[in-house]
Amino acid sequence: MVVIKTEKEIALMGEAAKILTACHRELRTMIRPGITTSEIDQFAEDFIQSHGAIAEQKGYKGYAFATCASVNDEICHGFPSNTPLKEGDIVGIDMVVNLNGWLADSAWTYPVGKISEQAERLLRVTKECLYIGIDKSIIGNRIGDISHAIQTHAEAEGFSVVREFTGHGIGQIMHEDLQVPHCGRANRGERLSEGMVFTIEPMINLGSHRLKIDANDWTARTVDGSLSAQYEHTIAITKNKALILTEQD
Ligand code: MF3
Ligand code: CO
Repeated sequence: MVVIKTEKEIALMGEAAKILTACHRELRTMIRPGITTSEIDQFAEDFIQSHGAIAEQKGYKGYAFATCASVNDEICHGFPSNTPLKEGDIVGIDMVVNLNGWLADSAWTYPVGKISEQAERLLRVTKECLYIGIDKSIIGNRIGDISHAIQTHAEAEGFSVVREFTGHGIGQIMHEDLQVPHCGRANRGERLSEGMVFTIEPMINLGSHRLKIDANDWTARTVDGSLSAQYEHTIAITKNKALILTEQD
């Protein structure tokens, strides 16, 4: 069952989102060659806690960290590690903030120093996919309209869309009933209505869409070793266009 949120509840999620976006803004300036994803994870956990909130991913289904840190060919659920990031890497940082029981979820992929033109293009197109999906998130449209628009753009640019992970409803729990695939057919699926709150979080690969899961049972990476990027926002369906709760600027 899709949980519909009141304006007041959406505002409470917006407060959680403010902490999350402030954290991402800090990471934007921190991430450079030499820093480790463990240091990033510790910073994020401390930042969230010092703002009176909880890093919701830590302990979720046994996940041990505040953030997922997915480097290069890692698609999602990368474990923070003590390996320093190097010039040319890309790193996706995903986190969920819980403030007074209300959640916000956002992932962002950061360049480490100067990255290749190809990697830059992957980041740009993946971010475009997210915002194209958000543009389709209006009352009366259907989930498939979001999925189809994202897939069309990614594939027109010669990239591929990861199938196995979707956006999701979110509120007082991280994964609520609604699923938002990033590929599929237009005019299919649930119809969007006011008060729905969900994430859109396309994972786009430079090569094949296929993935494998590491021995840690969490980390997904591309089968062909190609780069993968992800951007994720938590959005609310309102009377006008979608409200992006986790917008950074
Ligand atoms: N933030 C992720 C999502 O978009 C959840 C990661 S799984 C976790 O759904 F275990 F790390 F929480
Ligand atoms: Co999410």
